[in-house]
Amino acid sequence: MPRYGRIGRVNIVVGVTGGIAAYKTVHLVRLLIKAGHEVTVVPTADALQFVGLPTWESISRNPVTVSVHDDVARVRHVALGQAADLVIIAPPPPTRSRRWPPDWLTTSSARRCWRPPPRRHRPRDAHRDVAASLDAGERRHAARPRVHIIGPDDGELTGGDSGPGRMLEPEDIFAAALPFAGPRDLAGLRVTVSAGGTREPIDPVRFLGNRSSGKQGVALAAAAAARGAEVRLVAANIGTEVLAEARHPSIRIERIGTAAELAEAMKAAAAASDVVVMAAAVADYRPAAVEDGKITKEAGGMAAIELTENEDILAGLVASRTDASQTIVGFAAETPRDEEDLLERGRRKRERKGADLLVVNAVGWKQGFEAPDNCVHVIGRTGEVLVRSEGSKREVADAVWDAVVGIRA
Ligand code: PMT
Repeated sequence: MPRYGRIGRVNIVVGVTGGIAAYKTVHLVRLLIKAGHEVTVVPTADALQFVGLPTWESISRNPVTVSVHDDVARVRHVALGQAADLVIIAPPPPTRSRRWPPDWLTTSSARRCWRPPPRRHRPRDAHRDVAASLDAGERRHAARPRVHIIGPDDGELTGGDSGPGRMLEPEDIFAAALPFAGPRDLAGLRVTVSAGGTREPIDPVRFLGNRSSGKQGVALAAAAAARGAEVRLVAANIGTEVLAEARHPSIRIERIGTAAELAEAMKAAAAASDVVVMAAAVADYRPAAVEDGKITKEAGGMAAIELTENEDILAGLVASRTDASQTIVGFAAETPRDEEDLLERGRRKRERKGADLLVVNAVGWKQGFEAPDNCVHVIGRTGEVLVRSEGSKREVADAVWDAVVGIRA
């Protein structure tokens, strides 16, 4: 189950319209409940043709009604909407229906009572065409930044055909929708994050590499997307399982292998980025020559490998920066004597590379690399420690973004 940074317990209304994908929404509600959120399901009468009321009530652990005449004394449909931090409609209404059927779900939405508290956002899982099928009032809502259309997916459809129009998987809706209930302080920013470790080939079967799993960089990308940024993740040799944590509609992943490929990708991405974060572990050296065939003992082996220096990508990005408002963040992986030594090394590295912020972490056999947790100090331009953060790599990522937001303000 993914962890979602600072989002606490969220009050969620799940609107379900009549469609075969309603069975997937059962799993979505289950995921939300398991993550500790409060969920009220509002199905249309038609939705109940696909999944019955007892299922919704037992899964959501809340009473479910389709009638506007229930609990009228409390004006339940208004109260429910006003208490919601987040409204998810999944599946969305049929593509070309002019209006949704007149029931509980539409009555609530037509009265515009699904008004979340300020700075909260309401996602909608819907086909893009659905926006065009909403009535005038709802179209105005859809045009606002607080209504988000997530999906559709491309793939196999119920009728046996395939193409765009498939509802996203519950895990994807869960990952994309929940962050809308959290802070959106990176909205409008284009962010590039490098993650993982480069591999420098020796011959077709061997390389020089490091133990970076990509967890910290992926957590930075996921946290940035959750806070509203458009993210480009330049991924160096990251395993599928770790990379799955970056599955988000606002994250574009570019896979690279070597330091030279990383340099090229970062230069291109940085030109269109407001913030660049170099979390990747980059090889400082590569073999001077790469053999075309496997080096064998019979042919003399390789008692020594001659190395040549790779370019310093981070320092290069700082030196070639043309947009003065761009923020460049570096990392430093150190094996220090103690915390004072760690900070001194961090300060020296920040100065040498010229980054606006330098995130320094101590690494070792069981620390930093591969571990699920991390402990970092974020050092600013004058050498001061702006943030110290210890916890999951996602928590650390959020602390780094807090520092970025702080200096950009
Ligand atoms: O991936 P994980 O397993 O989660 O581990 C996370 C991490 C420990 C790899 C991460 O938190 C981290 O410290 N990343 C930076 C690793 C590193 O290369 O540090 P460095 O001190 O060698 O380099 C300093 C900075 O210069 C880094 O931002 C690095 O990306 C950059 N660099 C280094 C060499 C080079 N030739 N070009 C660079 O741009």
